[in-house]
Amino acid sequence: MTPDASDDQKPSDESLFVLRQPTISDGGAMWRVAKDSRTLDLNTSYAYLLWARDFATTSVVAVRAGGVVGFVSGYIRPDAPHTLMVWQVAVDADQRGHGLAGRMLDHLADTVPGMTSLETTITDDNAASRALFGAFARKRDANHQEIDLFTREHFPDEGHEPEVLHRIGPF
Ligand SMILES: CC(C)(COP(=O)(O)OP(=O)(O)OC[C@H]1O[C@@H](n2cnc3c(N)ncnc32)[C@H](O)[C@@H]1OP(=O)(O)O)[C@@H](O)C(=O)NCCC(=O)NCCS
Repeated sequence: MTPDASDDQKPSDESLFVLRQPTISDGGAMWRVAKDSRTLDLNTSYAYLLWARDFATTSVVAVRAGGVVGFVSGYIRPDAPHTLMVWQVAVDADQRGHGLAGRMLDHLADTVPGMTSLETTITDDNAASRALFGAFARKRDANHQEIDLFTREHFPDEGHEPEVLHRIGPF
């Protein structure tokens, strides 16, 4: 699954990872990471290619041994030009629990021009994602609001969990 994941080095070794903007060539790998997560809503491969081209400055990939093992996709909200909306975040299962997702969020907070707030939506049953964004808010001593955004009734497909908006900032 993860390139060269069989080596002896621990994912906690930060120097193993390069964090950088995606290019079109990374779009396919972002789709693969999303698919393997089995948690995210998987969009078309086309959507990830398009994202890697048009929203590269507000997205990040984590690369280990030349292969993408995690990504955050985001965009600046047209109606709120200082707010980064995080669309999806995923880390390959064998690289989790060592701070990689947190580092990717930090990377965006440090590099996205003019960003002072972050939003994302999370389903209540996603403990890892809730913990990730909760930790991000605490680290920045930032206000963290939770607001019902997309209810079950909004979704045309049966059985979709409600998505709660997490608004973090200003920081
Ligand atoms: C959510 C996800 C990206 C976290 O990646 P990760 O690299 O393991 O996260 P980190 O190691 O940076 O952890 C960040 C914080 O979340 C906590 N956390 C991570 N996974 C957790 C879990 N399963 N349960 C509880 N807390 C968890 C960590 O302890 C850390 O908090 P701390 O800084 O207070 O110690 C990863 O679990 C994943 O890819 N899940 C599947 C896709 C998904 O659900 N994405 C989110 C919805 S868009």
